[in-house]
Amino acid sequence: MKKVIIAILLSAVLFLTGCGEPVAWRDQPEAYVKNLAYKDGFVVVQMSDLHWDVATDVPASRAFVTGIVNEVLNEKGHIDLIVWTGDQFLSATRAHVRAFVDMMDSFEIPYTIVFGNHDMQGFYSPEWLSDYLESGKYSLFTDIYDDLPGRSNYIVNLTKDGTADSEVCWQLAMLDSGVTKNDTAFTLSMSYCNLTEEQVDWWQVQHDAVGKDVPCIAYYHVVEGDIVQAWNEIENGAELKHKFFQHEKFSTSPDLLERLFEAGKDQGLKAVFFGHDHSSDLTVDYQGVTIGYGVKSSQELYTTFISKEEAETVGLSEGFELTGASVVTLHDGGCFDLEHLYYNEKEDGVWKGWVKY
Ligand SMILES: [Fe+2]
Repeated sequence: MKKVIIAILLSAVLFLTGCGEPVAWRDQPEAYVKNLAYKDGFVVVQMSDLHWDVATDVPASRAFVTGIVNEVLNEKGHIDLIVWTGDQFLSATRAHVRAFVDMMDSFEIPYTIVFGNHDMQGFYSPEWLSDYLESGKYSLFTDIYDDLPGRSNYIVNLTKDGTADSEVCWQLAMLDSGVTKNDTAFTLSMSYCNLTEEQVDWWQVQHDAVGKDVPCIAYYHVVEGDIVQAWNEIENGAELKHKFFQHEKFSTSPDLLERLFEAGKDQGLKAVFFGHDHSSDLTVDYQGVTIGYGVKSSQELYTTFISKEEAETVGLSEGFELTGASVVTLHDGGCFDLEHLYYNEKEDGVWKGWVKY
């Protein structure tokens, strides 16, 4: 009897701590897929690099994010999905995570989150963080205990009626370039992760499942080398469509060429968007794919000032901090509109500028 009780207790502990063998992602690719109903004009708001930490004035930062959401609602009439592209937290506590989920659920709009390189540097375990993010009423966040690098790899298929049984019109891929499975509570490692070959294989399986021609946009955190390479070509005289701002140097090198980009550019991948570098929102059309930064969506940690002269290059008449959001409107046939909303709180009130790509 004693042995049976010990065995039951051990099983319970293993279950509660998530120990045991991670599942093989190839055995259950469908487990990563969420579905939303698509219609022409589907609006995706990308926010990034919130960086809530122990010194953050959370109500003020929440008001800032809420202001951005309300401005997009005023301009577009609706938002269908909000995508967070990493570094939501840095030296944050459970209270910050609870406040974040509470804020996001208050909008009553579905949202996704991918991790950045700082999200695990907080006063919680990776398991607690994932469980809490999954618990949000409007959250689509998914972390499966698997053998795939990262903890925030999942798919949002936009289908005709919002179920898995109807035609997929667009696919949105969330990829984790921010954390490893080795991270623990308050991980202090400052090393940056990047997408791995296995994650690209995983994306390929997910995309093959809906069809080669289905248009796809990928969202992740850490920038890779393709945008650096594209920028180098522009500086050497290549005529590539590009817009927005590039300050300071890139956080990556052109040697880190984008494997996802290589795999996807001839197979429905329309765009890749990321965060991480707060001083840039450069976007470039490169080999048939739009690659670009989002816009940092808070005033935490550091922001970058765009001078009046620079602002005038995109049709704006005064200087501003590079904060706001990136807004994509999806259309039938695989095309999309891209706009950056610059949103600042200035002494004389809120200032905002919309710029089309
Ligand atoms: Fe980052």
